[in-house]
Amino acid sequence: MSRYDEIKNQIKNDPKTWLITGVAGFIGSNLLEALLLMDQKVIGLDDFATGHQHNLDEVASIVSKEQWKNFQFSKGDIRDLETCVNAVQGIDYVLHQAALGSVPRSIADPLTSNTVNVTGFLNMITASKDAGVKNFVYAASSSTYGDHPELPKIEENIGKPLSPYAVTKYVNELYADVFKRTYNFNSIGLRYFNVFGKRQDPNGAYAAVIPKWASAIIQNDDIFINGDGETSRDFCFIENTVQANILAALAPENGLNQVYNVALGDRTTLNELFENIKNALSENNIEYTKDPIHQDFREGDVRHSQADISRISTLLGYSPNYKIKNGIKKAMPWYVKNLTKIQN
Ligand SMILES: NC(=O)c1ccc[n+]([C@@H]2O[C@H](COP(=O)([O-])OP(=O)(O)OC[C@H]3O[C@@H](n4cnc5c(N)ncnc54)[C@H](O)[C@@H]3O)[C@@H](O)[C@H]2O)c1
Repeated sequence: MSRYDEIKNQIKNDPKTWLITGVAGFIGSNLLEALLLMDQKVIGLDDFATGHQHNLDEVASIVSKEQWKNFQFSKGDIRDLETCVNAVQGIDYVLHQAALGSVPRSIADPLTSNTVNVTGFLNMITASKDAGVKNFVYAASSSTYGDHPELPKIEENIGKPLSPYAVTKYVNELYADVFKRTYNFNSIGLRYFNVFGKRQDPNGAYAAVIPKWASAIIQNDDIFINGDGETSRDFCFIENTVQANILAALAPENGLNQVYNVALGDRTTLNELFENIKNALSENNIEYTKDPIHQDFREGDVRHSQADISRISTLLGYSPNYKIKNGIKKAMPWYVKNLTKIQN
């Protein structure tokens, strides 16, 4: 039996109380779905800055009525300490996802990214420490590797940040480390590498590449590739990311107070990604015959990214079940079905 299966059994038999911040967002709502399906009690916090009520409604339609009763939602902003203090009461594990994502967003408005991602984080970790939370698992980011050229990326070796967003995510790690040293408070940082899957927002100026391209193909719009398309990323399917969060929350003693790469441990170029998405949509009867249009490289982007996942595999028992092709295949029907709904 895998470590993940063991832990799933353990928490099904002995349900816990979880707080998910950013619960109405892409990763948060997928964590919510997985935990409710395991009969956990979940408190959710979100201010709908980039998340949506329709993500919560969709989870409600997937879980049973009884499971949905185990969820309590609170609309609130993590920049407000009192909101955080109220949210953490009686919580065993925090999965802190609330933040303003996107490198370009942080370049356009570094002040807001900083208050949400740094002040908001500090509020959440302080409130969690004061409430005696067992373990604070938070969304860190592969952007912390910055300009370090090494591939694959190993947790110890980071470079200089390339964007305000990357600074905010690195500051999270520094605070988490200091909270262990000064207050003996347990946490785990998960450095996500380009997560994708259902409910990832295809709309808006800061949409991630996979939902943006899926949406463009479905609507027969032009596809723009930044640079020559040989830029590569370690795309990680959402179900692998959910697995990492649950394993991290219930980490053994020697796995606590670390940062971990959360990825597949593989690398896909943008040109390959385009082919993958196009082919998966073709299996859903959507044919796209246009060629992608190449434009300038994007400011703040790193050329290649690939994770070494040995630390999380060894210490937490992480074993990603989905490779990129399977993940894309599983994600695309959701975009086909929901695109009209989420655009209105
Ligand atoms: N998606 C990725 O590939 C990726 C990669 C690296 C890191 N991350 C991190 O993972 C986390 C989740 O990202 P996501 O892709 O689900 O993004 P998302 O935008 O879908 O979700 C973020 C959620 O946080 C909420 N939020 C934002 N500001 C808030 C505030 N002040 N108070 C309360 N809630 C607030 C938003 O409304 C949204 O629901 C973020 O911390 C992000 O930085 C994501």
